[in-house]
Amino acid sequence: MLFKKNKKIILKQAVDTGNFFKKTSYFKAAENDIDWEWDLFIWPVIKNLDFSCVLDLAAGYGRNSEKLKKYAKKIIIVDIQEECINACMERFKGDDRFEFIKTNGLSLKGIDDNSITLVYSFDSMVHFHKDVIREYIKEFQRILKPGGFGFCHHSNYSAKPGSSFNENPHWRSDMSYELFEKFCNESKLDVVQHQIIDWGSKKEDSYYPGLDCITLFEKTES
Ligand SMILES: C[S@@+](CC[C@H](N)C(=O)[O-])C[C@H]1O[C@@H](n2cnc3c(N)ncnc32)[C@H](O)[C@@H]1O
Repeated sequence: MLFKKNKKIILKQAVDTGNFFKKTSYFKAAENDIDWEWDLFIWPVIKNLDFSCVLDLAAGYGRNSEKLKKYAKKIIIVDIQEECINACMERFKGDDRFEFIKTNGLSLKGIDDNSITLVYSFDSMVHFHKDVIREYIKEFQRILKPGGFGFCHHSNYSAKPGSSFNENPHWRSDMSYELFEKFCNESKLDVVQHQIIDWGSKKEDSYYPGLDCITLFEKTES
């Protein structure tokens, strides 16, 4: 079923998800969490990687790039929302290491083949439809330099097959770490590790053990 799906339908899935992030209070609120998220989930996984040319996919208002810019020689910010691209352009104004691309929701057009040393996406792919993730993984194979890595935070919620992300806890899409690995394998990207993580506050009923996954993968030298 996944294999035959029309590109137009997948594109619509991407746009529909993107539309949920128009004018939300998320971006401001999320700024308060990036320091502990970076220390706990992100830095330990990426600290030894090559930051020469980084893609921040679905960057929102740029809170991750604010961290990445300490290490990166070049950062390409991609998002589906014009509003997010504008916010990032304003935030990183005057820093000529940055480039900004508004995507259609599936493509990384505008990024050269074999040019990226680190594909990075945090707190965004968790909402993406599995078909959209599959399309982006094909693009990762194209844009990554041989020897480059990908760090992707995605959903590991498969309790409701076929569900839409906005019906699920923390808006997680119907996805799993096994499926992410399958898509990587199809695109000849090697999974280095999956880190299954819990999400939500233990004090409230918003706590979901194993809800998310961070997958690290490599485009090995060929
Ligand atoms: C929850 S926000 C996270 C933003 C950022 N990564 C952060 O941690 O602050 C999700 C972002 O994904 C973007 N988005 C949704 N679907 C997308 C798609 N198919 N391609 C690119 N960006 C997308 C939204 O516009 C939004 O900026």
